[in-house]
Amino acid sequence: MFHKVVKADEVEDRAMMAFIVGGWPVLVTRDEGTLHAVINRCSHAAAQLAPDGRVRRGAVMCPLHGARFKLENGECMGAAGYKPLKVFDLRETEDGWVEVAVPEEAPGAEHLPVKPLG
Ligand code: FES
Repeated sequence: MFHKVVKADEVEDRAMMAFIVGGWPVLVTRDEGTLHAVINRCSHAAAQLAPDGRVRRGAVMCPLHGARFKLENGECMGAAGYKPLKVFDLRETEDGWVEVAVPEEAPGAEHLPVKPLG
């Protein structure tokens, strides 16, 4: 189901915009003109990618240990081999809104891992 998230003209190139959409943490960004939405949690150790990560040349870099993931399909780049990021469908409405589709059900532990205490 698509949710209205942000006006498209507010998403600047390489923006790191964090939202909660239907209970899901979502990063919305733009890379060389193209809008993208991916989960705002690194698949390595669950760091938030926005606002402190960076977008460059089609990939988002995690601020914690520097893993890079392709915005197009979430694939982890380089040798790290972490699980891909979840990618959300995104569309731009005629009146200029970015809409993002997230699953109906709230994210489970496989999407929002937490570190054990102690
Ligand atoms: S938490 Fe993102 S690279 Fe380690």
